[in-house]
Amino acid sequence: MIANVRPLIEAAAITFGYSREQPVLNGWSGSVAGGEIVAIVGPSGSGKSTLLYILGTLVRPWSGTLWIGDHDVARVGDRGRSDVRSAAIGFVFQDALLDPRRSVFDNVVEGAVYRGDSRAEAGVQARALLERFGVDVESSRRATDLSGGQAQRIALARALLDSPPIVLADEPTGNLDHINAKLVETALFEHARSGAAIVMATHDEVLAARCDRTFRLS
Ligand SMILES: Nc1ncnc2c1ncn2[C@@H]1O[C@H](COP(=O)(O)OP(=O)(O)OP(=O)(O)O)[C@@H](O)[C@H]1O
Ligand SMILES: [Mg+2]
Repeated sequence: MIANVRPLIEAAAITFGYSREQPVLNGWSGSVAGGEIVAIVGPSGSGKSTLLYILGTLVRPWSGTLWIGDHDVARVGDRGRSDVRSAAIGFVFQDALLDPRRSVFDNVVEGAVYRGDSRAEAGVQARALLERFGVDVESSRRATDLSGGQAQRIALARALLDSPPIVLADEPTGNLDHINAKLVETALFEHARSGAAIVMATHDEVLAARCDRTFRLS
């Protein structure tokens, strides 16, 4: 078998800011191979979430190149980026984790159904993941009035559904007690060990030190 020679994520010379005067990232380069778990660390405001949005193809950098697997996403249009995202990337956002208009269940399966999975097959995985993460809320209820930790674990279930080759997680353990933080951490490490590329932004230096590498922003 020919090994996958290209890293799953390969970014070079990425420059981006929200205003012309203040670039947040200035020529940032980095890559992540399948099987690796990498932490993004750095002070609040240093651009960790911004970098995850760029790697997740949600934000287009001003300049630089970004490959996701075999796709040169800097060169494709919005539709192409959205297809790559849907097929390859699971995302846990820092806030706005869930769509409050939809049920917990629909939040978890929506990406998979968009990809073409049946609700039934996605549902089997969804229930297993919610149980694994100890989410004890009724999955038919709307995704409102949840604790931060519940929302975070539900979002992680959504991100891991269908075992995407890339998972980007923004402070995935931020709102969690020790036991749930461990559950989430274990799930992310296991997913990396099964061959996925995981990038997580975290303020937890101990967790970052357990990762294979860190990207440090300043
Ligand atoms: N939508 C936005 N519009 C304008 N500026 C923004 C926006 N989002 C972030 N910024 C700015 O970009 C910089 C980087 O923000 P970012 O959220 O990426 O930092 P972070 O490292 O994730 O911080 P934290 O640790 O607090 O989550 C900050 O100066 C922030 O104020
Ligand atoms: Mg952030």
